[in-house]
Amino acid sequence: MSALVLDRDRMRALFDLRSVTYAIRGGGYVDDPYPVFHRLRETGPIHAGTPHEHLGWTEDVFFQGLPYPDRPHFSAYDYETCTTILKDDSRFVTILPPLPGEPDMSQAGMLFMNGKRHHDYRMLVQPSFVPGKAVWWLDRWIKTAIHQLIDLIDHDDRADLNVEFCAPIPLLTITGSFGITIEDALTVREAVTSDGHGLGVLPPLLVPIIAARRKKPQDDLISVLVQAEVTDEHGMVHRLTDEEILGFSFLLLAAGSGTTWKQMGITLIALLQQPVALAAARNDRTFLRSVVEESVRWTPTDPVFARFVAEDCELGGVAMPAGAVVHTCLAAANRDPLRWQRPDEFDPFRQLKANIGFGHGPHTCLGMHVARAELVHGIGAPLDRLPDLRLDPDPPTPRIIGLYERGPDAVPVRFEGAS
Ligand code: HEM
Repeated sequence: MSALVLDRDRMRALFDLRSVTYAIRGGGYVDDPYPVFHRLRETGPIHAGTPHEHLGWTEDVFFQGLPYPDRPHFSAYDYETCTTILKDDSRFVTILPPLPGEPDMSQAGMLFMNGKRHHDYRMLVQPSFVPGKAVWWLDRWIKTAIHQLIDLIDHDDRADLNVEFCAPIPLLTITGSFGITIEDALTVREAVTSDGHGLGVLPPLLVPIIAARRKKPQDDLISVLVQAEVTDEHGMVHRLTDEEILGFSFLLLAAGSGTTWKQMGITLIALLQQPVALAAARNDRTFLRSVVEESVRWTPTDPVFARFVAEDCELGGVAMPAGAVVHTCLAAANRDPLRWQRPDEFDPFRQLKANIGFGHGPHTCLGMHVARAELVHGIGAPLDRLPDLRLDPDPPTPRIIGLYERGPDAVPVRFEGAS
């Protein structure tokens, strides 16, 4: 495998929160949202309105739960309320019949399914995502990508790891697991970030791979999907159709290629700014597991996910009508002072407590163990191979930016190059 064919300009357009691709996710938001989250949490568990309205953002935004202008919107900011909502999939669901003019998300994969249907579809792929499968992902795709990417930079003495390293690792991992070539990986990323416009791009790429795997399965994720069997409402067992596989593929390719990238940058910046934690990680690579968990608590890359209210209900003293949208602010919940002392501090030495940066309840991130493997090895390998890795003091100090998707604007580093 060669990562050389990844075009740098296309990479920058697709993996820079300041690029046009991310404008619609609030990529231009550069403030620190946490003081606002704290203030809101202190004044009540649920507030009318959306997180971006509360943050004073007036540009157009599009994310899960947005835009649904004809529905009332609420947002939750504390740990207890957010976990209650995410756990309760009978009152708070991820899909309702669309109102006139709203998009129909029913074919958009398991994140947009409720109850038994969601459970049955998730179970088809869950075995490929359990902790014990992390080694499969590492050996088949992750390690190769990591080391080939380091080969491209280790002769130099500086790099922006954000685009040159963090971004391609999850992209090459998830596209590799679908049998998609490196040449087509960026086309896939373009399609899954196009908010529906690029939907036509995936079938011509994937249908031939599906057909080939139907004839001769291989040791990859697309073969798992091709061989998966579901029982329909009449009790008939059938293999997934091409359309069903395409629905699965879209969500997995989108979620798998766009999240770990930003979380890895967040983690690297936080770690490289903390000499004691960095020294601990250099001494003992297993400490990186704590570093990663703390990073996902401290600044989860996707800070908000929404649910529809399925029936009139009251939560935290606030009445929410059926059909409303409630945004759970995972980022705010993860800094709830009732659960964590000094919640704003990135402290990988703190006692580990479950956080909800990977979600909570039935839709908890399917790919979290893959993401953890990518993060732990994607940070450990540069520590091994790029001597004296440190933040580059010359360019402006990197900032964590973005509203519905958060990550660094750059990860500029220096190291002792091989040449
Ligand atoms: C650091 C990286 C990641 C973070 C922070 C993250 C975060 C999340 C969160 C918060 C959810 C829950 C959404 C909700 O409840 O509405 C979610 C769901 C999901 N994630 Fe991730 N994710 C990451 C990486 C990945 C990767 C690498 C994959 C695939 C290989 C993936 C696949 C999915 C899928 C398929 C779902 C939907 C699960 C369902 O509906 O049952 N994620 N993710």
